[in-house]
Amino acid sequence: MTEPLRLDRLRQFIGNLAELLDQETEEAAILDRGQNLLQQLVAHDDWLPEELAQPDPTRYQQFLLHADSRQRFSVVSFVWGPGQSTPIHDHRVWGLIGMLRGAEYSQGFARTDSGALISAGDPVRLAPGQVEAVSPRIGDIHQVSNAHDDQVSISIHVYGANIGAVKRAVYLADGSEKPFISGYSNTRLPNIWDLSKENPAP
Ligand SMILES: [Fe+2]
Repeated sequence: MTEPLRLDRLRQFIGNLAELLDQETEEAAILDRGQNLLQQLVAHDDWLPEELAQPDPTRYQQFLLHADSRQRFSVVSFVWGPGQSTPIHDHRVWGLIGMLRGAEYSQGFARTDSGALISAGDPVRLAPGQVEAVSPRIGDIHQVSNAHDDQVSISIHVYGANIGAVKRAVYLADGSEKPFISGYSNTRLPNIWDLSKENPAP
């Protein structure tokens, strides 16, 4: 018999993050405390529904797991097929990226005086359980890729808005930008509210 999905972990994370945003408005504190919360969520790989963990052979997938009712945040599972990567892009809101399965590389970019983009530092490799942050304040332009060319990787992203509605940009190497709204790959969200599964009647 297979173990039941631990969707309670996702529900707990969403509740804790909503509470954090009730208390904190300063981004540094949100990222600091939010990072701890996301670390707890990605410390276990037993809660993501299978249908929201499916790669697509043509491009990486972004499955919405939850959007806050006031769109203060959204939670997305990013599913990388082998060797897949994003274009260079920004977010324009704060973001936290927690590795759930496999591994990914994030390469940061900075602008030169002439406006071109150059890579800033070495790529960061995220392993399961690790979390990194992005925002316009601390560095917002990066390119992310699956660290594996022979297996699927999955990271859980949390953004300080409904990221599927944020007008942002992808970039060419010369620094020119193209408007971009990322959207979502799924039409149905996981049901985190069926508590009868967790506390069945005796
Ligand atoms: Fe990103």
